[in-house]
Amino acid sequence: MRYVFEANGLCKDFDDGRVRALRGVNFRIVQGEFLAIMGPSGCGKTTLLQLLGALDLPTSGSLLYRGASLPALPDPALYRAREIGMVFQAFHLLPTFTAVENVQLPMFETERSASERLKHAVQLLKSVGLEHRLNHFPAMLSGGERQRVAIARSLANNPSVLLADEPTGNLDSKNAHHILDLIIRLKRERQMTLVLVTHDPSIALLASRTIRMIDGQIATDPSAPISP
Ligand SMILES: Nc1ncnc2c1ncn2[C@@H]1O[C@H](COP(=O)(O)OP(=O)(O)OP(=O)(O)O)[C@@H](O)[C@H]1O
Ligand SMILES: [Mg+2]
Repeated sequence: MRYVFEANGLCKDFDDGRVRALRGVNFRIVQGEFLAIMGPSGCGKTTLLQLLGALDLPTSGSLLYRGASLPALPDPALYRAREIGMVFQAFHLLPTFTAVENVQLPMFETERSASERLKHAVQLLKSVGLEHRLNHFPAMLSGGERQRVAIARSLANNPSVLLADEPTGNLDSKNAHHILDLIIRLKRERQMTLVLVTHDPSIALLASRTIRMIDGQIATDPSAPISP
C-alpha cells in the first residue's frame, strides 16, 4: 500500500542543534484519514506540520509523500500549491486584500484565467457560507468569518491533503464548533486527507486516529505496531 505520508526517524533541529524539536518520529498516514495530533505546548506539532507542508526541511530521517521524498522535491512551492491546503490558528489572511481576493491568491500558481479565478473564489466562499462577505477586508470580518475565508483559500487548488494547525484555537466554543463541522464536511465532500493539530480532546474524538506527541516524539499512536 502506498501511504499519503510516511515518516521514518524524522528529526528536526533548530539553532544549530540546540533545540531538538523532533527526535525520531515514525508514522504513516493513509488516504482519506482524519488524523488528530495532540500534545503539550512545544512538543513539536507545528514543526511536524511544517515539514508535511514542505515549509521547512528535516534535519535527518525520511519523509515521503505518496512515495516521493519531500525534502528532495525540486519545487516545494509547486507541491504546496497543487497538493496541500493549510489552515492556521491565526488565519494568515492578507489584510489589504478582500475576502474574494484572498481566496484567489493561491490560484495565481495555476493556469486559470482571471474570470475563472473570480468565479471559483466566489463558489468557494459560498461553500463556507460567506457569499455576503465577498468584498470585506479581513479587519471587517469576525474571527469565525476570517477562518472561513482562510479555509476557502486553502481549498483554492483542490488539495488532496488539508493540514490544519489549531484552526479553532482563536475562536469561542460556538464558532470553534461551526468551523470544525465545516472542515469535516469539506474533508468528506472532497475526499481529502485531514491532519489536524488540536489541544481540544472533544475535537480529537471526531478523528479516525489520534497521535499523541511528547517532547519531539510520538508517545502513542494506535496504528503503530505494539512493541514486545
Ligand atoms: N524557528 C525556530 N527556531 C528555534 N526553535 C524553534 C523554532 N520553531 C520551533 N522551535 C522550538 O521547537 C519546539 C517545538 O515547537 P513547535 O512550534 O513545533 O511546538 P508545538 O507543539 O506546535 O507547540 P504549541 O502547542 O505551543 O503550538 C519548541 O521548543 C520551540 O521553541
Ligand atoms: Mg504549534
